[in-house]
Amino acid sequence: MANPKTLLLLLLLSQLVLMMGGANAADLTYSVTSLGAIADGKTDSTKVFLSAWSKACASVQPAVIYVPAGRFLVQNAAFSGPCKNNAITFRIDGTLVAPSDYRVIGNAGNWILFEHVNGVTISGGLLDGQGTGLWACKASTKSCPRGATTLGFSSSNNIVVNGLASLNSQMFHIVINGCQNVKMQGVKVSASGNSPNTDGIHVQMSSEVTILNSKIATGDDCVSIGPGTTNLWIENVACGPGHGISIGSLGKDSQEDGVQNVTVKTVTFTGTQNGVRIKSWGRPSTGFARNILFQHIVNVNVQNPIVIDQNYCPGNKGCPGQVSGVKISDVIYQDIHGTSATQVAVKFDCSSKYPCSGIKLEDVKLTYKNQAAEASCKYAGGTAAGTVQPTSCL
Ligand SMILES: *[C@@H]1O[C@H](CO)[C@@H](O)[C@H](O)[C@H]1NC(C)=O
Repeated sequence: MANPKTLLLLLLLSQLVLMMGGANAADLTYSVTSLGAIADGKTDSTKVFLSAWSKACASVQPAVIYVPAGRFLVQNAAFSGPCKNNAITFRIDGTLVAPSDYRVIGNAGNWILFEHVNGVTISGGLLDGQGTGLWACKASTKSCPRGATTLGFSSSNNIVVNGLASLNSQMFHIVINGCQNVKMQGVKVSASGNSPNTDGIHVQMSSEVTILNSKIATGDDCVSIGPGTTNLWIENVACGPGHGISIGSLGKDSQEDGVQNVTVKTVTFTGTQNGVRIKSWGRPSTGFARNILFQHIVNVNVQNPIVIDQNYCPGNKGCPGQVSGVKISDVIYQDIHGTSATQVAVKFDCSSKYPCSGIKLEDVKLTYKNQAAEASCKYAGGTAAGTVQPTSCL
């Protein structure tokens, strides 16, 4: 064992580390309950949350907004920057609950929105969007509000979301739009499998986004990737139920930014409509998707484990007779396994004007009812390597 001198040194060192790391402890902390919020799930705490934000945002030193255990009723709230510091942490032990009447926030676009902020961390917490009433409304013939995204980040940089749970959003759970450098991990999303448009995480016009170690069960896309997404990394995510991971729909607009450098790695799809999908409208566009890697994917009873669909045209409106202008290239499918719930486990339905190119299948094994599944190709070019089942049609 070390001699007393070394021990003393270690002790001093550890004190020093504590003091430095403990800089957090010295940060200004604004507890919402100290500011008057009441954790009864009924008293509207919106103003208190906004005033905590104003204080944290006006602080020149790092600040923490603390939400203790309990249920806090919050209506739609925008936490806007720019702020005087770039280290604001929302530390949430409790639950933020949306009004039970879905009409209150139903037309707001976002329930909780961060915009023009730099350096915001959300740690822990449950966001309960109480969306079931709106889903029921949408399933009936009534006219209903569109619904709010539970948590939005817009035009913001250096965002961390750690250990957050989102339950029953009205519309999308989390949207990242126009952001740079976003790290999300340990996120848990849940909504019923038939809830409409409740995408787990939607990313668009953003770069350097990572989504790690998360579990997403919803009624729509697990992760949806929109135009203008570059350098997105998704790893160790469990999806299902829902529609799987989707790049697109691309090409909705004739002038559109492309999607590039997307890695989707170590993902399990359970009972989803798709596994990994790239989808574009069947009409002219400057959009593209390139440099995409799907790797180490497990499918459990997935309807379309691998799919590229460039003929999306809901209701056959706005595109009949047209072909997709979206160029899809350099898409690698590597180590994709499991079971397909339909016979066609691999489907590449590309644009006749801009055929898919550089598609690579490597070590793919998908079965349908314990038999070989089928692959279908239209205007798709590329190569196959290793074991590929169903047999490649590239
Ligand atoms: C995409 O990745 C390639 C290769 O890793 C890199 O050279 C390129 O700069 C990346 N594109 C963007 C827009 O960051």
